[in-house]
Amino acid sequence: MVAARITVNGKETPISPAAPHTTVLDFLRERGLTGTKEGCAEGECGACSVLVARPGVNKPTDWVAVNACLVPVAALDGQEVITSEGLATAGESGMPAALHPVQEEMAVRGGSQCGYCTPGFICSMASEYYRPDRCAHPDSADGTGTDSEHGPNGFDLHALSGNLCRCTGYRPIRDAAFAVGTPTENDPLAQRREQSPPEPVATEYTRDDSAFLRPSTLADALQLLRERNDAVVVAGSTDWGVEVNIRSRRANCVVAVDRLPELREMRVESDHIEIGAAQTLTEIERRLDGSVPLLAGLFPQFASRLIRNSATLGGNLGTGSPIGDSPPVLLALEASVVLADADGEREVPLSDYFTGYRQSVRRPGELIRAVRIPLPLSPVAAFHKIAKRRFDDISSVAVAFALDIEDGIVRKARIGLGGVAATPIRALATEAALEGKPWAAETVEAASQVLQAQGTPMDDHRASAGYRSAMLGQSLLKLYAQTTEAVSS
Ligand code: FES
Ligand code: FES
Repeated sequence: MVAARITVNGKETPISPAAPHTTVLDFLRERGLTGTKEGCAEGECGACSVLVARPGVNKPTDWVAVNACLVPVAALDGQEVITSEGLATAGESGMPAALHPVQEEMAVRGGSQCGYCTPGFICSMASEYYRPDRCAHPDSADGTGTDSEHGPNGFDLHALSGNLCRCTGYRPIRDAAFAVGTPTENDPLAQRREQSPPEPVATEYTRDDSAFLRPSTLADALQLLRERNDAVVVAGSTDWGVEVNIRSRRANCVVAVDRLPELREMRVESDHIEIGAAQTLTEIERRLDGSVPLLAGLFPQFASRLIRNSATLGGNLGTGSPIGDSPPVLLALEASVVLADADGEREVPLSDYFTGYRQSVRRPGELIRAVRIPLPLSPVAAFHKIAKRRFDDISSVAVAFALDIEDGIVRKARIGLGGVAATPIRALATEAALEGKPWAAETVEAASQVLQAQGTPMDDHRASAGYRSAMLGQSLLKLYAQTTEAVSS
């Protein structure tokens, strides 16, 4: 097996002697690439953002921005990374001959003061600069292609939703983002998009008593999980990275499954959509392109673009968090999970999957291979996330609705809830209170009282139990107002 190595700014660099838990951030900084900064070490500030060459959605390769503080460097064995230092055109004696167009715009528009956050903003901005399908947003109210979140150049500000700045203020940064042009034909990173990204590499990286392992097939991964019951399974490492950095957790054996081809497929069949568990949320969002409106409503509210570029549905379900954002939506969609082990597969409805706080029916040695969403979809759907910030926050309460309403009667209601019990739950009593009844104010008001009493919400630092209950009831009233406004307008 070839020694683990990573290509940084075009230069191949051995990963050794880094420990298997060493993050890309620490690896880069230890090698003098100190433009990549540590702000929070838990995926919330974006100071550590770097670009990674990944399989593209519309071109062979996308330049994807990720949080270097969360990713073990061994996970990028054989991969290509660009840091803020690698974006400028190199000149004599290591000094840049010319700034990258994104760096230029940030400089001339006053997008940087102390500069601590700037390299991270630059990398996130460069990822959006190179997005192949970046174009003017079609839904702007005035027809100019511009709204508060999309520039006339098609720049989607959500690309920066994971980057925090403490001193400049965001307007000059937005001005820079909305001023960047399109890459020239001889831009090397634009040209790189036309070639395939590096293939995933089977990795066995060990130091002392710990190992980072990347099997190359699902069969190998399942056999490994059968043999190593101490293994920690990671995909985008957005959860495990926090455990390593903030809680100092270490594992004897980390098994990466994010590049397994069997976990990266998306199939649309006549009666269901199957989404590979290791596709990132950004990939799913772009591939579905709004065809599952509940998921389309979820994605912009799920953490930040930086996190969505790494996080997977399999990971969000695998951690079993009661406040994960995808479970309420998937419960309302009546999704099921396909669990695989070395003996075969089984399909479990998501409503039967969670068994307790961070507990599920997934057995040792089992992986989530895919998520299945039955078709057709219910036409009335909404996802309401109640959190202190609009983006990049953890929900206090999350509610997803999927309703079939025919001739003014609720034929079917599916409601998923997060943040109100030890597990994500279906609001079965509320569903029953709606089904067979007219979709009318009287029904909705009565059902909102039922919804308000669902679950066993707690007081904690995010919200009180009373507030959570009140928000449940309000969410159904809000849905009703939205549907009736839509009908009357
Ligand atoms: Fe804050 Fe990585 S250091 S997101
Ligand atoms: Fe100082 Fe952003 S320029 S934190």
